[in-house]
Amino acid sequence: MANQTIIAFENVSKQYDEDLVLKDINFEIEQGKFYTLLGPSGCGKTTILRLIAGFTEATQGNIYFEKKRINDIPANKRKVNTVFQDYALFPHLNVFENVAFGLRIKKMSKQAIAIKVKEVLRLVQLDCFEDREISEMSGGQRQRVAIARALANEPDVLLLDEPLSALDLKLRTNMQYELRELQQRLGITFIFVTHDQEEALAMSDEIFVMNAGQVIQSGTPVDIYDEPINRFVADFIGESNIVEGNMLADNQVEFVGQSFECVDGGMRRNEPVEVVLRPEDLTITSPERGKLVVEVDTQLFRGVHYEIICYDQAGNEWMVHSTKKAKVGSKVGLFFEPEDIHVMRFNETEEEFDARLESYEEE
Ligand SMILES: Nc1ncnc2c1ncn2[C@@H]1O[C@H](COP(=O)(O)OP(=O)(O)OP(=O)(O)O)[C@@H](O)[C@H]1O
Ligand SMILES: [Mg+2]
Repeated sequence: MANQTIIAFENVSKQYDEDLVLKDINFEIEQGKFYTLLGPSGCGKTTILRLIAGFTEATQGNIYFEKKRINDIPANKRKVNTVFQDYALFPHLNVFENVAFGLRIKKMSKQAIAIKVKEVLRLVQLDCFEDREISEMSGGQRQRVAIARALANEPDVLLLDEPLSALDLKLRTNMQYELRELQQRLGITFIFVTHDQEEALAMSDEIFVMNAGQVIQSGTPVDIYDEPINRFVADFIGESNIVEGNMLADNQVEFVGQSFECVDGGMRRNEPVEVVLRPEDLTITSPERGKLVVEVDTQLFRGVHYEIICYDQAGNEWMVHSTKKAKVGSKVGLFFEPEDIHVMRFNETEEEFDARLESYEEE
């Protein structure tokens, strides 16, 4: 384990009756970073948080906190606090009492509680709201009370289960900035759950992309966006054009019946692959200058760019993001650079993917 590792999962599985909802999960969480668990509904995100918090037990495997196995340590002895999706505030208590709740249980002195509550309310910019009833607070303010209540316990790790999903878009974006800023200021480890890929990309140091009880890929937002290891990740993170192809040789891939220079390698000759091109990496040009010739089918104005849908002769759809309009029905060229082509192996695991990149880069 790396030195600054605070939480580690080793071959962790979780079964409910017949259902294996987490399958052999392995990861390490480093102290002081912002992590995001990202994946579709039911993939096991909340279950991972519950295992870390001690609200449920692993069926198999080991969970470590600062190198000590904590499988059998009860929830109230773990240096972890959770902000739940519905905030779980006490409606009959005011803001002050909600935040003070855990501290009273810990039998902290009245004076120490008053100081602590003030301090954490200031952190979430609710200094003047101590006496307010919860029912008189907006959604965003309630959310901050929930965060303040969790921070009052001075956790080493804060778990946040989709805390922003109940907020409208504008407030949500503001809270994304605030949470990120708060995490950096406090330097504590955040593990944040969302199924919103833009939120994950904007906030995280590291993202774990999950599907069906497994971590499919982990890495920085840029890594995951630029080098998705398979179709699921490419599809889930951002908009993608994905077509089938063949790896002719290192740096040479074939798709839509043409050969293209690329920057990937380490595969068998003629290995079938999937090829990803992001809409923002495609430029519309004349058919002569384009690397692919396509016909413009539809065009939508999206505010910052036009979303243009085209089809090639083979019938593949190509989405292009462009600040310039195109003419619907016209034949145009699509231009892209070799490094815009991302080649993915079918069914490659994260370990195989890393090993391939490494071996290829060494050569
Ligand atoms: N107490 C339980 N008993 C039985 N099955 C459960 C229990 N809790 C969760 N599950 C199942 O485990 C799987 C993972 O659930 P989990 O709540 O971790 O998903 P999630 O990724 O958080 O989804 P969402 O985005 O919808 O919150 C689901 O199929 C769910 O039905
Ligand atoms: Mg959940």
